[in-house]
Order: sequence, then C-alpha cells, then structure tokens
Amino acid sequence: GISVGILGTGKYVPERRLTNQDLEKMVETNDEWIVTRTGMKERRIAAPEQATSDLAYEASIQALKAAGVTAEELDLIIVATITPDMFFPSTACILQEKLGAKNAAAFDLSAACSGFIYGLANANGFIATGVYKKILVVGAETLSRITDYTDRNTAILFGDGAGAVVVGEVPQGRGFKSFKLGADGAGGDLLRICGGGSRLPSTEQTVGERKHFIEMNGRDVFKFAVRIMGSAAEEALATAGYEKSDIDLLIPHQANIRIIQSALERLELSADKAMINLDKYGNMSAASIPLALAEAVEQGRVKEGDKLVLVGFGGGLTWGASVLVW
Ligand code: ACO
Repeated sequence: GISVGILGTGKYVPERRLTNQDLEKMVETNDEWIVTRTGMKERRIAAPEQATSDLAYEASIQALKAAGVTAEELDLIIVATITPDMFFPSTACILQEKLGAKNAAAFDLSAACSGFIYGLANANGFIATGVYKKILVVGAETLSRITDYTDRNTAILFGDGAGAVVVGEVPQGRGFKSFKLGADGAGGDLLRICGGGSRLPSTEQTVGERKHFIEMNGRDVFKFAVRIMGSAAEEALATAGYEKSDIDLLIPHQANIRIIQSALERLELSADKAMINLDKYGNMSAASIPLALAEAVEQGRVKEGDKLVLVGFGGGLTWGASVLVW
C-alpha cells in the first residue's frame, strides 16, 4: 500500500493577547494561581470581525504553500471545530469557497479537542484506500466566543487560533504508522455547551442562564485526561510497533501543563521531548495540536525520520493518538 503523511503545515493566531493580568481584572483570580495550576500566561483573542473560517483560512494558505499544493488540487477539506461560523453551512464549506478549492468536498468534524486527530485518521483512510489524493485537515477555534468570562473556572483556559496540514502520499517508510481513537459518551456532561441545539433550543431563558457557554467539571476532566493521554499514546505506539524510547517528539493537546507532565512521566520522556506552547496560547481545542505541530516544524524541532506522537483528549468524551514518521 501507499504511505500517507503530512506534506505541509500552517498556523495562525490573532493579534490580540489576553494575559493573566487582564483576567485578574475580569474574575477573582491571580497570575500565580493560573501559572501554577495550568502553565498558561496568555491567550490570543480573535478580532470582532474574525470568525473561525477566517482563522482557518490563514493557516490553510500557509499549509498549502508549505506542501506545494494548490487549492484546486484538494479533494477534500475537513475542519475540526466546536466553534463553527454558524450551524450550517459547515465551516469547511465556507473555507472551501474562501480558498477557491472548487474540486474539494468539505465537511466539519465534531470531536472537540480530539477533532484534529480524528480528522487526520479520516484523511489517512481516504488516501490509503485511493478515494482521494490531497486532503486539507484543519483544527480551528474561536473559543473566546463560547467562553463565560464571568466563570473563573473556565475563563482562564481558552484561546483562539488555527492549525492546518495537507495530507497526501509520502515516500515509503514515512507517514502515519497508527491511530488510536476513542470515545466515552457517559462522560459527556463533564464538558459541554448544552444550549442552542435541538435538545435545548436558544431562548431568552437559555441566554439568561448562560447555557451557550462552555461548562466544565475541571477536576473530573483532569483525572480523565491524565489517564487517557498516557494509555492512548501507549496503545498507538504498540500498534505502530515502537517503544516509548523511540519517541523523538510528543505533540500533546495543550490543556494544562500538569496533564502534559503526567503524560511525559508515564511515557518515561524528559521534558524537552514535548512541544509546549500553552503558555502563549492557552487551550485552543481542536487547533492546539496542529498549531503545536506547525510551530515545532517552524522551530526546526522536527527532522526527517523523527518519530512523533500526537495525542489529545476532549469533550465527548473523546481521545485520539497517532504515531507518525516525519
Ligand atoms: N483562580 C483562582 N482560583 C480558582 C480558579 C481561578 N481561575 N479556578 C478555580 N479556582 C479555585 C476553585 O474554586 C477551587 O476552590 P475551592 O477548593 O475553594 O473549591 C480551587 O481553586 C481548586 O480548584 P480545582 O478545580 O481543584 O483546581 P485544579 O487543580 O483541578 O485546577 C483546572 C483546575 C486548571 C481547571 C484543572 O482541573 C484542569 O486543567 N482541568 C482540565 C481542564 C481541561 O483540560 N479542559 C479541557 C477542555 S477542552 C474542550 O473540549 C473544550
């Protein structure tokens, strides 16, 4: 069979910064608490006129350029997001039009922070089976639009941004070696937005009760994350036939520095083996992993032949891990 991998990466973050000092003025919190509990220092916030597809567009243009692929060559666009521009049309269709990717099919994918890895797994399947040749996979979020800035438990965590990759055929021996995806719907109420859907349509009451913002049980999500990051990565490694010590770089979901540290311990890796940028950007849900990957590439931290592990978890509950050779 053919080898499938990443041909190019791109990223975009908005200009505006929301610092811990800014948050101190908005909710009862302080820089020291936020840094020790999460590792975060600032996040980016989209301009009022920017929606998720605008962020996705900037990251996609970069990824296409890096891959040497034109928009017309794309067969499919997958946008992983929990903050679409609107219910429908999908953000992927809006992006398709912006890019002029007129030969591409397009759909959004809903798996919260695991969405980008779910997207990669889809792209891998479509290409490995010969259905498509070039696929754009984007993780893009404007979480500032669904964050309750009166709730200190969540207000400190989230930021806006986008990461994108072009997936296609790569030389034999390189590319994706395994995927491990999972879900546990029983934990759905730990992390959700319950208003605005068919269960609880938008009304003045749902707006008043702040049902259109993220609600989260931080402590339970934390416990789940610590357990699943290690086990998902280990299972993906085992399927690929690699050992923990083979890992050159871990690209984890950027939810909390303590969650990443526990994953590093479980995988017996030193701190320099993880790409970390949550101090600058906070948690950008589906955008975190592709943006961390794009930044790692930009910084020269990823060399040909390196073995990477991408691993994330999120609302659903969902999780995903992938092993790939760069
Ligand atoms: N500033 C100061 N104090 C705070 C803040 C804050 N911003 N937030 C909470 N506290 C308080 C709490 O009220 C609590 O006080 P209490 O003991 O009097 O009740 C105390 O600090 C400790 O709260 P915990 O919840 O136990 O703090 P914890 O160490 O668990 O850290 C955190 C909280 C950072 C949210 C952590 O639980 C976490 O990172 N959880 C995972 C979150 C996550 O990854 N979410 C993914 C979302 S991805 C997606 O799908 C969108």
